[in-house]
Amino acid sequence: MGADTFYVTTPIYYVNDKPHIGHAYTTILADVLARYHRLLGLPTHFLTGTDEHGQKVQRAAQANGITPQEQCDRTVVRFQELWQRLEITHDDFIRTTEPRHTAIVQRLLRELYERGEIYAAEYAGWYCVPCERFFMEKDLVDGQCPECHRGVEKLVEKSYFFRMSAYQSWLVEYIETHPHFIQPEHRRQETLGFLRQPLGDLCISRPRSRLSWGIELPFDADYVTYVWFDALVNYISAIGYGVDEARFARWWPASYHLIGKDILTTHTVYWPTMLKAMGVPMPESIFAHGWWLVGRDKMSKSLGNVVNPMQMIDAYGVDAFRYFLMAEMSLGQDASFTEEAFVTRYNADLANDLGNLASRVLKMISRNLGGVMPAACEPGADEEELVGLTLAAVRSMQDRIKAMQLDRGLADVLAAVRAANRYFDRVKPWSLAKAGDTARLGQVLYHAAECLRIVAGLLLPVMPAKMTALREALGLGAVAGVPSLARLSRWGGLTGGVAVSDIAGLFPRVERAALPAAPAAPQAKASSPAGVAVIGIDEVSRVHLRTARILAAERLEGSDKLLKLSVEIGAETRQIVAGIAAFYEAAALVGRTVIVVANLKPATLFGVTSEGMLLAARRGKRLSLLTVDGDIPSGAAVG
Ligand code: ME8
Ligand code: MG
Repeated sequence: MGADTFYVTTPIYYVNDKPHIGHAYTTILADVLARYHRLLGLPTHFLTGTDEHGQKVQRAAQANGITPQEQCDRTVVRFQELWQRLEITHDDFIRTTEPRHTAIVQRLLRELYERGEIYAAEYAGWYCVPCERFFMEKDLVDGQCPECHRGVEKLVEKSYFFRMSAYQSWLVEYIETHPHFIQPEHRRQETLGFLRQPLGDLCISRPRSRLSWGIELPFDADYVTYVWFDALVNYISAIGYGVDEARFARWWPASYHLIGKDILTTHTVYWPTMLKAMGVPMPESIFAHGWWLVGRDKMSKSLGNVVNPMQMIDAYGVDAFRYFLMAEMSLGQDASFTEEAFVTRYNADLANDLGNLASRVLKMISRNLGGVMPAACEPGADEEELVGLTLAAVRSMQDRIKAMQLDRGLADVLAAVRAANRYFDRVKPWSLAKAGDTARLGQVLYHAAECLRIVAGLLLPVMPAKMTALREALGLGAVAGVPSLARLSRWGGLTGGVAVSDIAGLFPRVERAALPAAPAAPQAKASSPAGVAVIGIDEVSRVHLRTARILAAERLEGSDKLLKLSVEIGAETRQIVAGIAAFYEAAALVGRTVIVVANLKPATLFGVTSEGMLLAARRGKRLSLLTVDGDIPSGAAVG
């Protein structure tokens, strides 16, 4: 526990869509940390997985015309395949639909309910019909839906709440007295800032009528569990909480929950208060890294700039991709991903510096020394800088890992590589070869190879395949697979006399070109209103707009905003519920031809099914229905 084991987690990712570079980043970071701690000799446990319940997944399933379980089963393999390609060495992969997880969530819910930590209450909220989402009063923007900016309906319903507010002052004090609990420091300040407002209780239920894809509340079958109250528990359910106490005690508390800054509040407020209520100790640290931007833009589907990790791996190789992500981002800050930046760093660090050094050293040993590692020897004055910088890189890496400054540790390793290339240029082993000074040549190549041995060991967690190949070329294949940090900290680890092989092109220079996808056209971007995503014609054509004739209209009982319409769309008659009662008299609508979204997923409002949506123009308190100019039959395509 704690200091003598290392337990690291990633967020569990939603299975509404395939993984992108952001998911790859957090998982590679966790993998690198896990691999370093294994080098340090600490028993290490690395958990990742998928978050499979909730609205996002249910919606994706509906859009794909499959069941939520099918959605999960299809998407989870995309993650698992990617982790395999990326050489991720997780010890466990948890899916929140697994019984080992759902059983624990239900048990915790029951316990908390029985102890009064969870209670039922009526509460009023606001429902957005088109978004099918429930909002609190404070979430609304100008009294309208914060997502789609349309009108909302007041609803009163029973919900279950977790008594989160009771832990507010405890949490503030905990964060204040545990400076490493939330990292980096500016995220800790952000959480403390958030906690300056009164903390409410947390609604942990969703009525089944609105969301069916979730873990049933053990004390009320009409409700499922709010997805976060389910998902966060994965960090303890996966390691045997409540089932295998010895296993749980071995790994808990977690050393690091690695997350992106998008999910800070759930991890630094919900999760600690949940654990406190359950009587479980706090994790040692929650570390929130920054955001990968594409150029200066947020990555988003509608901008067409989502970076697909599989494409990067296919184009440039797994190791280079892992290296770039680790070296380019300063942990805690945002970073920008562009293929140009990738190619520039690849060519500079990997091709020119590391690849070049490896190729020079291995080639000369092969050509001039018969492919046999020269005998070990003591470094002299010529080697001082090389030895100094290389051993400093070992210490730096250890310190930087502790400080979560991986990019700086890697920069120090590259500094050692550059020192070795300078050493080569200075002592000119090719001249020694020409002059037949085999003794001095052997010494020089030994020291350059020593630097490579240490560098390959330090970079092994970041570039496992390439660095294993390099270690094998150096004749280290026979030494037990993983180097220990103790061996890396001492100059002179290479054994003379072992066979050395020349590996051609460890990191061949690359040209930019490889990625097929191009971001959205700049002129299209310029013409769109600020902050609005640009979409292609293919996305427009997914929305089926049709003319519809209103056959009948009446007010919907129980609502002062909604009208129930019966409309004719070609040969079809449909029922549509529209929030226009404040603007149109029901009777005045009959006979008019309007425009409807014909392929909208049906929704139920006040027990009435709505099979489409009317288009209307809206500004402030005014609303005007879109109608057609002249005579056109219903069912005509609009576009
Ligand atoms: O939030 N830059 O899942 P999710 C950096 N299921 N990291 C990024 C990123 C980007 N542009 N985009 C995503 C969820 N990430 C919940 C988590 S945990 C109990 C439940 C990474 O699929 C980053 O780690 O939306 C972020 O926190 C996570 O993916 C969100 O993944
Ligand atoms: Mg997210």
